Amino acid sequence: MAQSGTDAQRDTWTSNRGFILAAIGSAVGLGNIWRFPGVAYESGGGAFLIPYLIALITAGIPILFLDYGIGHRFRGSAPLALRRLHRRAEGIGWFQTMLLFIISIYYAAVIAWSMSFFYFSFGTKWGSDTQNFFLNDYLHAADPGISSELVAGVAWPLALVWVLIIIVLATGISGGVEKVNVIGIPLLVLGFGALVIRALTLPGATDGLNALFTPDWGALTDLDVWIAAYSQIFFSMSIAFGIMIAYASFQRRKANMTSSGLVVGFANSSFEILAGIGVFSALGFLAHQQGVAVDQLEGLTGPILSFVTFPAVISQMPGSALFGALFFGSLVIAGFTSLVSLVVGVSVALQEKFGLSQRTAAVSVGVVCAAFSFGLFATTTGLVALDTVDMFANNVGVVTSAIVMCVTVVWLARRGELLRLHLNTVSTFKLGRWWIPLVGVFAPVFLTVMLVQKLRELIVDGYEGYPDWYIGVFGWGTVVLAVVVAAGLALTGWKGRDDPAFVAWPPLEGAKR
Ligand code: PHE
Repeated sequence: MAQSGTDAQRDTWTSNRGFILAAIGSAVGLGNIWRFPGVAYESGGGAFLIPYLIALITAGIPILFLDYGIGHRFRGSAPLALRRLHRRAEGIGWFQTMLLFIISIYYAAVIAWSMSFFYFSFGTKWGSDTQNFFLNDYLHAADPGISSELVAGVAWPLALVWVLIIIVLATGISGGVEKVNVIGIPLLVLGFGALVIRALTLPGATDGLNALFTPDWGALTDLDVWIAAYSQIFFSMSIAFGIMIAYASFQRRKANMTSSGLVVGFANSSFEILAGIGVFSALGFLAHQQGVAVDQLEGLTGPILSFVTFPAVISQMPGSALFGALFFGSLVIAGFTSLVSLVVGVSVALQEKFGLSQRTAAVSVGVVCAAFSFGLFATTTGLVALDTVDMFANNVGVVTSAIVMCVTVVWLARRGELLRLHLNTVSTFKLGRWWIPLVGVFAPVFLTVMLVQKLRELIVDGYEGYPDWYIGVFGWGTVVLAVVVAAGLALTGWKGRDDPAFVAWPPLEGAKR
């Protein structure tokens, strides 16, 4: 097993299947289960599938290919690969790495909650007032602020999550990361598939599906709906975060990159639609039990969907423990495989920069992430902090990262054509010339419109009515921190081996233009 960041000993996936499963493991996460169904429902229902699929084809898949091209050709995590692409591009990689760090520390907390709720499913321990249970009994949730009061019920499972993450990372890419995904993903498909089938057979399921899929064509003229579609695609596919760069860098030289990318992209979206069907069938059932229409239900996305609304559904069901275990078990597995990818992104970047061994990098990154994760998200103010940081990291952070990366690669470094030829040389699905204007013009222009609109909204309206100082510290502060630390790291000298004789592979002869 490779122990250091040097090229000759670089750890690799044992097979293309391992790579595909790990990439799917990163993509399929909490976003698929708790975000997609609610976003689709609120943004035009069935009609949302149109902007969603357009976003997938015009930005999701093309930028996924860009990530793959950078990682596979320049063989490194985001900072190293981008630095090899252009001396001055290293900072973009560190900005992405910082986003990963920030997301990982709250994402882990949600997995911890899911573990607790998995346990609570046996005997539906949340009682009849599920909102009170989640917010008060379980989280001891306080108003926006800074608290040092640890919540034991969150802290214990959170400790378990981080210990497991450190073990997986320390055993390496082929040893730990690949195995977790090769076992986890099929298990997730089986478990979640069973849940969806059960949900479809519940009374009221069709009402739920009608509520989700009935198209509101008017939504298509609403810019916000398009923005929702593009941001969903970005978060969900884990693109422009540097993870796909790192994962592609562990591919062998002979690797069918673009075809694998298509499999990953479509598998992820299929899982989202499957989750939409499962979640809304269950919501239809809840509405049926309560004698109300689906549109009168509340709490249809995010933490409230998973930890307040779903427990209410589960309590109403015959055989509730099994259904609850399937739902929270799916959240744990889907979340864990994504968390592995988030932390791998950070750990490999530091390993390469400072010439650390895989194990040292894994353990130190794991410990530091765990410390922040506890301090910020295992306390009574964790839920509000999570909501704020999540919103800024995704709507401001990753969109900025994507714009800057696309513009730098295509216009400043002028490497678009090289990456296209590289991908075409190794892959069976060939990228036409259309790929460059998509990643170089269309995606950055559309993403800029989206970013400006979002910034304007945040500046004018604030967020969720949280106090200004709070949004300043946890919202804008998160983005500023990421930029400052990224700049600092980019300016620090490269300590690890960045082989001056690095030869990007493979030669481009025979590339189809
Ligand atoms: N794609 C994951 C999800 O849908 C989350 C994630 C985002 C993972 C960014 C890695 C990087 O939940």
